[in-house]
Amino acid sequence: MSEEMIYDTKYFRIAKAADVPNGERLFFELEGKPIVLFSLNGEYLAIEDQCTHDSGPVGEGELDGEQIICPRHGARFDIRTGKVLSFPAVTDIKVYKVRVKDEYLEVGI
Ligand code: FES
Repeated sequence: MSEEMIYDTKYFRIAKAADVPNGERLFFELEGKPIVLFSLNGEYLAIEDQCTHDSGPVGEGELDGEQIICPRHGARFDIRTGKVLSFPAVTDIKVYKVRVKDEYLEVGI
């Protein structure tokens, strides 16, 4: 995995963009953080794969448009902004920058 520092963001090369087709998800860890990346209608969005309610595996939840529903207790989050949208979670979830460079997906932390 290569990395590049841009201002205060460090980008890590994760996968070839072509290997993550529309509707697919990619689960990985960066510097000890579980992250899930969504390929959605030509865009790539990434959030921390740990629910802010009780650390549930939120990335395994059902997607409703750009909302993810935590499989453990049903909290909803906007995967573009990280905003929490419903109880029982009350804290936003972390989002990560994603860019495509040289046909590769790179995630910034
Ligand atoms: S752990 Fe996600 S809603 Fe409780």
